[in-house]
Amino acid sequence: MKSDAAENAGLDPSRLPVHAAVIMDGNGRWAQKRMLNRIKGHERGADTVRAVVRASREIGIAYLTLYAFSTENWQRPKSEVKALMTLLKRFLASEREEMIQNNIRLQVLGQTHRLPEDVVQGLAEVTEQTRNNDGLCLCLALSYGGRTEIVHAAQNLARQVRDGRMDPEDITEALFSQNLYTAGIPDPELLIRTSGEYRISNFLLWQIAYSEIFVTPTLWPDFTREEFIGILRDFQKRERRFGQVSEQ
Ligand code: FPP
Repeated sequence: MKSDAAENAGLDPSRLPVHAAVIMDGNGRWAQKRMLNRIKGHERGADTVRAVVRASREIGIAYLTLYAFSTENWQRPKSEVKALMTLLKRFLASEREEMIQNNIRLQVLGQTHRLPEDVVQGLAEVTEQTRNNDGLCLCLALSYGGRTEIVHAAQNLARQVRDGRMDPEDITEALFSQNLYTAGIPDPELLIRTSGEYRISNFLLWQIAYSEIFVTPTLWPDFTREEFIGILRDFQKRERRFGQVSEQ
């Protein structure tokens, strides 16, 4: 069924990215262009989230990470932060059943303790209810910052060295990765950013070392399943060399 959907979309199921990550940008501009409140842009953005999650599941992508709220986003006006948290709660309530039915696992990446209590609780419930699912893993980056994530990993490792549980030389790239929020999740082969900005915005700084990057001018609320599939097709045309030459 999964490979059928991929093949029907003109994709080679054996060469899909295992992990696709998305910087969802442009909700505010989408709303401003229509003389609407920015919140309307986020609402439409949540609909795009549903469409891209569904497409990823059907096509057979194993991990989809969405940058839903950065540590910097806490500095937005209180009303906008509140609206984003409300949207998130609504999303969890409306998608809970679908995630359970469709074998989707929810995982959260970030400083969850900073989120409002009811959001933390909703996330914990859905994470627990879906933890044995082995279809798409939907990773929501919430209150997420790449530098903070790296600092936390360094602190964890430093503590273990201080306590005599390992030597500094034991710290390898693999061990460092295991101390990130994404422990156990493969690095994304594909990073998409919408709304035309050529920036990383503190997203998955360690994990995107070798990711193929696609920037589309489309604002996130206008991003469609078809455009997503088009990017996956382009991804399959790119040659990934990891610093080596073609013949290697
Ligand atoms: C960037 O647009 C988007 C965000 C800061 C939040 C992303 C949130 C959603 C897509 C909706 C809710 C999410 C879930 C998972 C239900 P922006 O506001 O920075 O746009 P701008 O750069 O045009 O102002």
